[in-house]
Amino acid sequence: MLTGTFESIRNVVSLYRVYYNLISNDGVSTDYLIDHSSIIYLIDSYGNFVTHFNHESPVRGETFVTKKVAIFISGSGSNMVALVKSMHRLQFALPTLVVSNKRDVSGVIKARNLQIPTVCVEAEKVAGCDFNFEASIQKELENYKIDIICLAGFMKVLSARFVDFWQGKILNIHPSLLPKYKGLNTHERVLENNEELTGCTVHEVTGKLDCGRILGQATVPIFPDDSVDAIKSRVLEKEHILYPKTLQQFCLGRSDLVIM
Ligand code: GRF
Repeated sequence: MLTGTFESIRNVVSLYRVYYNLISNDGVSTDYLIDHSSIIYLIDSYGNFVTHFNHESPVRGETFVTKKVAIFISGSGSNMVALVKSMHRLQFALPTLVVSNKRDVSGVIKARNLQIPTVCVEAEKVAGCDFNFEASIQKELENYKIDIICLAGFMKVLSARFVDFWQGKILNIHPSLLPKYKGLNTHERVLENNEELTGCTVHEVTGKLDCGRILGQATVPIFPDDSVDAIKSRVLEKEHILYPKTLQQFCLGRSDLVIM
């Protein structure tokens, strides 16, 4: 399906290679091309250049799926913003939905400003119990055909049932070098213990808090006379780089640990 538009794209990226077909989760068909450096160029059904990404050994006829990502937040959503912007910039996945368990948090406004649909489900306002809370969220995830969940400062523990359902498709970022300092108040504990190094970890979510497979880690130094706030902002800055990078690798099916 080489269209006129496609020809002009070819000039821009100067490639003439094999083209394959991409089927999105919605069943939308997209052509993609592979050049000699194994960069895959995605072309949408109108022939517009969509994106490119590296793929180590492309297999002829292989089907690629554009993953739809939901980001769960409870607060300021700075990681959510970093994730959305990186997906917009590098197009390795689609930022599709932001789920918040708090209605009046700045992260929800930031998501709206980024034109990302938002869903607020407040546990205490859902009649019944946690199960109904999660069932409401699950319904939205299904409506939006979500493939991957990124927890980004989501301050509600999800049930084993929910986590099991999403096993291998749900990530979290934690502000410490796991397996050290699981749980809350990590920076306070790091300071109390006179650590010289801390950082952040992106990991898969399992039924055991902060225990899933580690996918990426970034270290941050601790300076003499450091305060909790100073460490927090230094770690957060690294989180905004680590999470998008790790999600990108995850979406491309790469299993190597991201170290920064
Ligand atoms: C981050 O420190 C993250 O590691 C932790 O919660 C915080 C969320 O911050 N899980 P933000 O809402 O992304 O600004």
